[in-house]
Amino acid sequence: MTVVFVRGGIEFDSGVCLRGLNLLAHAQMIELPTGSRCGGHGKCGADRVILDPESQKQVNPPSPIERHQLSPEELSRGLRLACQTFPGADGLSIRVLLDSTIEWTGEGQSG
Ligand code: FES
Repeated sequence: MTVVFVRGGIEFDSGVCLRGLNLLAHAQMIELPTGSRCGGHGKCGADRVILDPESQKQVNPPSPIERHQLSPEELSRGLRLACQTFPGADGLSIRVLLDSTIEWTGEGQSG
């Protein structure tokens, strides 16, 4: 199982899903840009991603930093900051949409 990032309908598979590694680090492992401008310190808010509903259940709850950076409506849509989001266990299957302006529509997301 692994973290799969989706951008423009193209899937980018990180190859692993590690509990101690946030989603930003998973993306960086495969040199996939996320828009991060603060080095993963939760300050820029530029690494916004959307998790599909199943994946939302497999990561940590939103951190205080995310509750400050994201509105309740955005959080309810599945938006997260990649640098603040950690898989709940090793080996999960997590899908992450990189363009946070697009609603997640499920399987076959075409961007
Ligand atoms: S990288 Fe800046 S908030 Fe996540």
